[in-house]
Order: sequence, then structure tokens, then C-alpha cells
Amino acid sequence: MIRVRFEGRAACDAEGAPGETLLALAQRAGQPLEGTCGGQMACATCHVIVAAADFTRLPPATADEEDMIDFAASATRHSRLACQIRLTPALDGLCVRIP
Ligand code: FES
Repeated sequence: MIRVRFEGRAACDAEGAPGETLLALAQRAGQPLEGTCGGQMACATCHVIVAAADFTRLPPATADEEDMIDFAASATRHSRLACQIRLTPALDGLCVRIP
């Protein structure tokens, strides 16, 4: 299992399976992430801010993801869309904040 720490209003630690999206794990863990479009990269309601130390552990965002992040409230240079991040063992210990 891959451990992820969620920080913010409903801080918690959770464990996900390889291949699961960060959005699915967050929702299973009770995090306040809507994911309105179901992972179609059309809403940005799955916006998370990745800890600076962890950001480079993620595969780079696609141009489409970066375009959608531009619509997210409170976006930072460490912002990502949780629906586009698939958990892998390399991400064990990832720390993200729900803006
Ligand atoms: S769920 Fe809509 S962009 Fe991620």
C-alpha cells in the first residue's frame, strides 16, 4: 500500500493501492475534494497542493492539466489535479494539502 498524508481542514493519513488515483484515495479518506467531472480534467475541483519536497516525485503535469490548474482557486506552483495522479510505490509518503 502507498501512504499519503492529507493536510488541511480534515488532516489524516491514508493508504491507497497502486494504480488508484489520488482523488479516489482522498474521497475514500473523507477529504473535501469534489472531483465533479469524474476525472475528465474539466472542473479543477480536485485541486491539491503538493508539499514542495514531494513535488518532483510526481510525473510532470500535461499541458492540459496545467491549463485546468489555471482555473483552480488558490493555485500555486505546486498545484496538481488529484484525478491525474496515479499512486505508485515511488509516491509512498506523499504529502498534499487541500486548499
Ligand atoms: S475531477 Fe475534474 S479535473 Fe479532476
